[in-house]
Parts: sequence; structure tokens; C-alpha cells
Amino acid sequence: MTKIAIIGGTGLTSLKNLEIKERQIVQTPYGEPSGPITRGVLNGQDIIFLPRHGYGHTIPPHKVNYRANLWTLKEAGVEKIIAVAAVGGIRADLAPASLIIPDQIVDYTWSRVNTFFEEGLTHVTHIDFTHPYCEELREALLAAARDAGIPIADRGTYGATQGPRLETAAEINRMERDGCDIVGMTGMPEAALARELELCYATCAVIANQAAGRGPAEITMEDIEKNLVAGIDRVRALLEKVIPTL
Ligand code: HPA
Repeated sequence: MTKIAIIGGTGLTSLKNLEIKERQIVQTPYGEPSGPITRGVLNGQDIIFLPRHGYGHTIPPHKVNYRANLWTLKEAGVEKIIAVAAVGGIRADLAPASLIIPDQIVDYTWSRVNTFFEEGLTHVTHIDFTHPYCEELREALLAAARDAGIPIADRGTYGATQGPRLETAAEINRMERDGCDIVGMTGMPEAALARELELCYATCAVIANQAAGRGPAEITMEDIEKNLVAGIDRVRALLEKVIPTL
């Protein structure tokens, strides 16, 4: 049974070297996931791929059905999830197109359905979320990056914003004071839902741009796309290296 899944983010709606075996449409008690899951083989290892924003990249961050996506992967027998995410860099050393494996989260999202534990409960459940990412998977990603000679930042705090607009410079200043190193729109509730389902989940974030007010000019979609081309090539190389080690 396939135990590893990759959730693709902006810039990663397919995996070049994935030998596709089948696409499967799935329904869940929480509605439809972002698309059919793709089962395939990557570097000798069975995996499942699911693009978070849909195969045509049409679902904005606040409209992603995070519960359906995570439920689908759990039902498919997945135990470990590598979540790829495009982010803005707040910390000065995080250059566009570089990679980071975050180790903490601050959640600024609102009005998203953010738990499986709300209906038909026999008792109220609070998951422990002190360390929001799976440390074993983070270490595997970092070790694979080192082996492959891919430069990578080994920790950082992911600030999850509501979107779909980018932030103001003042919001980024506040996030920096809060201890955030990177900013993205999809990290939550995805990570918390994975923990609720007892899935081992880690994020590989790629810096798409310097966060608002940190770069020399306004942030354009062209710049983001250009940086993601280079960054996602690194992500692909990292995935191919790490998958056989899991
Ligand atoms: N802010 C929030 N989400 C993002 C950004 C950003 O600057 N870049 C890519 N995703």
C-alpha cells in the first residue's frame, strides 16, 4: 500500500519523473478533494500526488477543501506527507528560489474549517501541536538536501495568512515581531488536520518572493512565477532524493 504522499503547491501541479499508474476520483464525508489523486512510482517508490490548488491551479488558498484532501490521503493508506508550499521570505537571508523546512507555525487564518473534531463527538479532543511538523520527516528532508548538495534553511516559523491578497508591509513587520520567518497562505489548517489524523507531515517551502516591504519593489506575479521555476526544480531534485529514503 502507498504510504507516502506529496501535496503539490503553487508551481508544482505535476511531477516530471513520476511514472503515473492511475488517477482516482475520491469522495469524502467532507466533500471533494482538490482533484483526483495520482498514484505512481517516483524513483522506485510508490507515492500518491495531490495538487493542493487542483491540476489546473484554480482553487485559491482560502477555498481549498483541506479536510477532504487530508481525509482522502488517510483513506488511501498514506502515513507520511511532504507538503510543498510557495512562500514569501521575511528573514533577510532567505533569497528567492531557495528552500526552507520550517519547524514552527503561527496561524493568522480565519473562517476556515480547521478541525475534524466538531460534530458527533463523544468527547472534546484537543491535539498536542507544540511541534507542528513531523520531526522525523523534517530530518529526512534535510539529510537528503545535504546529500544532494541542495542549499536549504533547516528551520523557521511559517506564518499562515488568509489571503488571497498578499500582505501589507506593516503586517509583515508585525509577523516578524511575532517571530515569523516566512509567510504563506496554505500552511494552516493543513498541518493541524494532518496531526488530527495522526499523519506524519512536514513542509518543504520554496521562497517565491521577498515578503511585502522587504524587497526593492512591488511583488508581481511574474516575479513569483520566475522564482518558482528555479525553486521548484530544486524541490523536484529534493523529492527524488528523499523519497527512496522514507
Ligand atoms: N505572502 C503570502 N503567501 C505567499 C507569498 C507571500 O508573500 N508568496 C507566496 N505565497
